[in-house]
Amino acid sequence: MSTIQLSSDVPAPAGTLTGRYPELGSGPIPVEPYISPEYFEQEKEHIFKKTWLQVGRVEEIPKAGDYFVKDLAACDTSIIVVRNRQGEIRAMHNVCAHRMNEIVYDKCGNTRKFFCKFHGWAYDLDGKLTGVPDEKCFFGLDREQFGLSRVACDVWEGFIFVNMDPNPAISLADYMKPMFGDVEGYPFEKMTSGFGWQTVVNCNWKLALDAFQEAYHVAYVHGNSIADAIDKTDNESMPPLDALCGEFHRRLSLAGNQKSVYGNPKALTEGGAAAQNALSDAGQKRPIAAAALRAGIGSAKYAFPMDALPSGVNWTKSPNWLFDMNIMFPDFYVSLRPNYCQAYNFRPISHNQTLVDARVFYPEMTTPGGRFFLEYMKVALRDVLLEDFSTLERTQRAAETGAKKVMVLQDNELLVRHAYHVVERILAEGAASAATSA
Ligand code: FES
Ligand SMILES: [Fe+2]
Repeated sequence: MSTIQLSSDVPAPAGTLTGRYPELGSGPIPVEPYISPEYFEQEKEHIFKKTWLQVGRVEEIPKAGDYFVKDLAACDTSIIVVRNRQGEIRAMHNVCAHRMNEIVYDKCGNTRKFFCKFHGWAYDLDGKLTGVPDEKCFFGLDREQFGLSRVACDVWEGFIFVNMDPNPAISLADYMKPMFGDVEGYPFEKMTSGFGWQTVVNCNWKLALDAFQEAYHVAYVHGNSIADAIDKTDNESMPPLDALCGEFHRRLSLAGNQKSVYGNPKALTEGGAAAQNALSDAGQKRPIAAAALRAGIGSAKYAFPMDALPSGVNWTKSPNWLFDMNIMFPDFYVSLRPNYCQAYNFRPISHNQTLVDARVFYPEMTTPGGRFFLEYMKVALRDVLLEDFSTLERTQRAAETGAKKVMVLQDNELLVRHAYHVVERILAEGAASAATSA
């Protein structure tokens, strides 16, 4: 979609990550997609209104009648996600069939039926119209035709996804399988404790996501918080163990400094040598982190031995593995570790505003020491996020000056490059099919 002329690529040498994907090139990528309101309109049309979007976990609505509401600005709508009497999860537009009032005002709750607060129409948990005050005055109203408008909804590994396309081009299972089939079976359902934050960051959604699909920045942006997690065996900032790019999605696996608390996530659940290793340096350099780890060791309700995790988790089988970042197109980031995972959504509101919904899931802790460890991690990860977000708002402002038309990417930023190309490809396909049907 971009009209900017990019300088010619220097081909990436063999053996590099970028060299593995020659179709992505190796040259600069344009800034325009990060700052253009018109480009965002195209993304809404061809991506966000056509693609599976993650909206929550099944554990949020465990009982019949439990529901939550998601405002999806990128789809120009708000949806209700509800568990019906049969235990199935349904999604529907939060728009009354009478005169379009929003049906649900709360963000979540439990109900037998949805009652519109304007004229009292009632709908069951499948969105069927079941009650109309003064119905006879409508002259033979066909209730079947005036239910809530359903939205395609499906579940992958406990994550609920919706798709605004009434006939999604691909099922959720087929969408996820090629890249994430080998992480199915990760114990998401045993990670029921944790914490999270929601905030609006004044930057483009891709700018936000990009900062979570490379680790080049960790040594700098996070220099005072978690940079000791960097595995310095290669004497670099944080080189990936491996990177994989698919038709839509992408993944990066990273090693960590085993002599640090944050860089050695298995220390908590494995204890023993892993914990000794983590504490050997951390006791001196990070006394509070070390105290939290000491308090928490052995307290998680479930331990997940490395060899019990699915084959796609730590797929290089590195002994120094820290975590894998899995980016589920378009805007969902899931990091997998042996004892916790992060599920971060970077959902656009406008071309330069993003609603970040960041959730961190742990197994339940069985002791006060374990809960202290979680409190420590909550504060540590909050600080890390604040470091990212404050940088991002400055980056967006700088990008909007127009001083730079392109940005350059190094090998370890391959996922940023891939993300750009996937969006460009889909927008080009969307524009071509719109031109054909016109
Ligand atoms: S708008 Fe909902 S009952 Fe009238
Ligand atoms: Fe970061």
